[in-house]
Amino acid sequence: MTTSVIILAAGKGTRMRSQLPKVLQPLAGRPLLGHVIDTAKQLHAEHIITIYGHGGEQVQQHFNHEQIQWVEQAEQLGTGHAVQMTLPVLPQDGISLILSGDVPCITPATLQKLLDASRGTGIGLVTLTLEDATGYGRIVRENGKIQAIVEHKDANEQQRQIREINTGIYCVSNAKLHQWLPQLTNNNAQGEYYLTDIVAMALADGLEVASVEPEMSFEVEGVNDRIQLAALERQFQNFQAKQLMQQGVHLIDPSRFDLRGKLKVGQDVRIDINVIIEGDCELGDRVEIGAGCVIKNTKIAAGTKVQPYSIFDQAIVGEDTQIGPFARLRPGAKLANEVHIGNFVEVKNSSIGLGSKANHFTYLGDAEIGENSNIGAGTITCNYDGANKFKTIIGDAAFIGSNSSLVAPVRIGHGATVGAGSVITRDVEDHNLAFERSKQIVKENYQRPQKLKK
Ligand code: UD1
Ligand code: CA
Repeated sequence: MTTSVIILAAGKGTRMRSQLPKVLQPLAGRPLLGHVIDTAKQLHAEHIITIYGHGGEQVQQHFNHEQIQWVEQAEQLGTGHAVQMTLPVLPQDGISLILSGDVPCITPATLQKLLDASRGTGIGLVTLTLEDATGYGRIVRENGKIQAIVEHKDANEQQRQIREINTGIYCVSNAKLHQWLPQLTNNNAQGEYYLTDIVAMALADGLEVASVEPEMSFEVEGVNDRIQLAALERQFQNFQAKQLMQQGVHLIDPSRFDLRGKLKVGQDVRIDINVIIEGDCELGDRVEIGAGCVIKNTKIAAGTKVQPYSIFDQAIVGEDTQIGPFARLRPGAKLANEVHIGNFVEVKNSSIGLGSKANHFTYLGDAEIGENSNIGAGTITCNYDGANKFKTIIGDAAFIGSNSSLVAPVRIGHGATVGAGSVITRDVEDHNLAFERSKQIVKENYQRPQKLKK
């Protein structure tokens, strides 16, 4: 039986007060709708149908690499009307999950439970019991069986006491959607075509409506404004942090950890407070990350220790290296094992060989550095002439004295030495010493100018 996923994403999101369509607002670094699409993919849905309205072009543009069927709902006449729009493309057989683009945290596990519960009956819902159910559609039951969903605005006093609510997540057989949706009317308090009316239709057809509860309540929370977005972000972060701790990660404080992407971890990884991990990252066994680091699309191998406030973007870091504090590894930084990168060192598109060190105030751009070389404080690779980039090549066991400028293209040989304060414009052959500095002038017993005494 084929599974389709229908995602409602036509709402305007007025309360976000944003130029960006609501479903493109980020949660944990990914658009709300992106979370729902990923969940649909994890369920191996054959069809993903997304109903768009406001900002449709921008939304489609954002997901143009995904296999999605887009259906327009030009006017928002209600949730039932929205799903009606899919009928021309919805398969006749199979079953559909109906989700919302602004309910991003629903898990594949809960949806699988819903699918399993709904297969026999042809219709099922995710419901939840709340302390305060104000505003939601209420689940009306008789002898435990679902009879109807009554919207808050249409509910009488007695129905408003009901605390079990409709989360807006459904599973319905496609044959039934084709049968029921054309019959919806808008005779209700809001003058909308309610999707929830299909529950009464199911009963009229003699079908029992199945229901399941989510594993975790935040799974069914929607986002309507930035306050809800921030609250959900924390809950989602908390959930991710728990998963990492269950895998053995030592998070010093899970409430001060943010993962905006995926993190693969080895054993005994330790992460101090206020660390942000973005994109696809990997931390090997015993890696330690100091406070305030931002690590994006980066792999750090076993035993490496990162001191506070270091920034990584598309870097590959070897085993047992020492990084930071205040180091910046930019795209293409490739560090072999046992490398040391110290404070205020920036590395871009450069490879650094086994055991080499750049411990202080240095820019290494478009450089290839061999093994066991020492790059002195304040070394700059001058890789850019304003139009073109050039390479600096440094061999093994080279020594670059402090405050040197290496004007690329240039090669410093194996075992070569550059004297401190040099501007190196020509290659230095293996084992040679090169330095470039003017002769020191000495004035004996020099008297500095004196301030006049008042
Ligand atoms: C709906 C349910 C209600 C449930 C609540 C859960 C109906 C009639 N009511 O309420 O029982 O408790 O969700 O949050 O379905 N949308 C469209 N096109 C439209 C209208 C809505 O795409 O014409 C989208 C919205 O963007 C949103 C979703 O559908 O993603 C739900 O719409 P919303 O207005 O939030 O739901 P309610 O009608 O308040
Ligand atoms: Ca709503």
